[in-house]
Amino acid sequence: MTTPKRSLLKIILLGDSGVGKTSLMNQYVYKKFRAQYKATIGADFVTKELQIDDKLLTLQIWDTAGQERFQSLGVAFYRGADCCILVFDVNVLKSFETLQVWHQDFLKQVDPSNPEKFPFVLIGNKVDVDGGNSRVVSEKTAREWCEAKGNIPYFETSAKEDYNVEDAFINCAQIALATH
Ligand code: GTP
Ligand code: MG
Repeated sequence: MTTPKRSLLKIILLGDSGVGKTSLMNQYVYKKFRAQYKATIGADFVTKELQIDDKLLTLQIWDTAGQERFQSLGVAFYRGADCCILVFDVNVLKSFETLQVWHQDFLKQVDPSNPEKFPFVLIGNKVDVDGGNSRVVSEKTAREWCEAKGNIPYFETSAKEDYNVEDAFINCAQIALATH
């Protein structure tokens, strides 16, 4: 019997420093959360295998540095991405406002044949903080941004409490697969 072939999907996590990109990845792949902040330097990937319907997939998840001074690799590794997950912190307005820049820069680098159709997922992370009382970006505002960008799927997550994290990554894999 032959082993069925796995499809490789390349996923890039982008967003401001401190929004929780590394934490989301660690929660999804290793089921671990660390309260202590350690800035990502450069960019690196981890892989995760999963099955969607009858398809075996390997997700190659690229975690990137939000801090400009640590973006040492440049952005060459954006190339060949199948999906881009944009992350902001629902408690930090600036991280929401900067999404525009991340979104634009990504498309400029990857230069997909059909930018309107390129699979993005938006994550509003840290919904656990202060029981939601310190959030400054509402779900409605985030959803409106997604609509304006061609109906990007939106997920509210907590990497800390493992809320909605797996759903967001699986959705990303699904839409990436659909356009792969
Ligand atoms: P850079 O690597 O600098 O780009 O940052 P990052 O986006 O990878 O952020 P990181 O995952 O390192 O998280 C930043 C801080 O926020 C850390 O102290 C995390 O423990 C914390 N954090 C991440 N996600 C959550 C969350 O869902 N809830 C809460 N309460 N804290 C979180
Ligand atoms: Mg990081």
